[in-house]
Amino acid sequence: MKNCVEIILNWYRENKRDLPWRKDIDPYHVWISEIMLQQTRIDAVIDYYEKFMNRLPSIKDLSEISEDELLKLWEGLGYYSRARNLKKAAVLIMEKYHGVFPNTYDEILSLPGIGEYTAGAIASICFQLKEVAVDGNVMRVYSRVQDLDIDVSDLKVKKKVGEEIKKILPEESGEFNQGIMELGEVICLPNGEPKCELCPLKSRCMAFLNKRQTLIPRKIKKMEKLEEEYTLFLMKYNNKYALRKRDGGLLKNMWEFPNKEGFYTYDEVKEIIPNIKTIQLGITNTHIFTHKKWFMNSYYLEVSKMDLNYSWFTIEEIENNLALPSAFTPFLEYIKKCQN
Ligand code: ADE
Ligand code: SF4
Repeated sequence: MKNCVEIILNWYRENKRDLPWRKDIDPYHVWISEIMLQQTRIDAVIDYYEKFMNRLPSIKDLSEISEDELLKLWEGLGYYSRARNLKKAAVLIMEKYHGVFPNTYDEILSLPGIGEYTAGAIASICFQLKEVAVDGNVMRVYSRVQDLDIDVSDLKVKKKVGEEIKKILPEESGEFNQGIMELGEVICLPNGEPKCELCPLKSRCMAFLNKRQTLIPRKIKKMEKLEEEYTLFLMKYNNKYALRKRDGGLLKNMWEFPNKEGFYTYDEVKEIIPNIKTIQLGITNTHIFTHKKWFMNSYYLEVSKMDLNYSWFTIEEIENNLALPSAFTPFLEYIKKCQN
């Protein structure tokens, strides 16, 4: 792989696409384009990007836009939490960094909506830091060049590949990262359709030399996750909270907050739970098990009577004596906060 680095750099310098966010290396421009590109094809992104930059030419403008207008600008791109996080990050950059985009990997990574991939992309492209940016394209090219039958969707595998690439990353980390991504986007195409004849790596690519380029990376079928919705009732009486033991199935015999399958309105909750004194909407949490995904909603309820169908504990007792599965720990943190 090491001897491919120079080839990728040269190929990128000669063939890179002329994209609007490549006119300069402004971190604001690169950031917005990388976020847009996360779930959207490049040709669809270009128009949105131009429209976005016309309306919001600076981080300050982004920090000041109303959420309604921002969502309108984002309309059609989908995954709207991306837009909300952009604004959150812009506000934070104004407050904490005086409007200047931070220039260390850890600071960039700490911004809302920015994960390892995006932090690596911005750090390498804009600040020439030696950071990798491993996306699906990189995983595909990497596994093919070495003819590795790895599960490219496995996050642990991705992390390992990132570590390996970091060892061979050249000084021109930004150009290399963009080069290998772009090679995956225009030449080393997915779904067994790589254009190997046009590829600068064909004389060194092990999958091509072994005629296995259409077999790598292998599609590893993911078991379908069953999705379930629950509403948790976080009931408080004096300084105690209601818990019960799960009687079967997943997490058998572990403690849980009383709950009921489905999502419910205030009025429905008042019918389900007797003796409510106060009621407020609690937090939500999603928990992924191997074969199941739980979407959990909650209500925080003060009750005027202890329902003896449940066991009642103080927060200290829950923390010190009970095994509360991690699916429920955010709710424990939440009731702790409500108590203060
Ligand atoms: N795809 C997503 N981000 C990219 C980048 N910076 N360069 C090339 N392809 C990309
Ligand atoms: Fe991908 Fe083919 Fe190039 Fe190998 S030779 S990197 S499989 S396009």
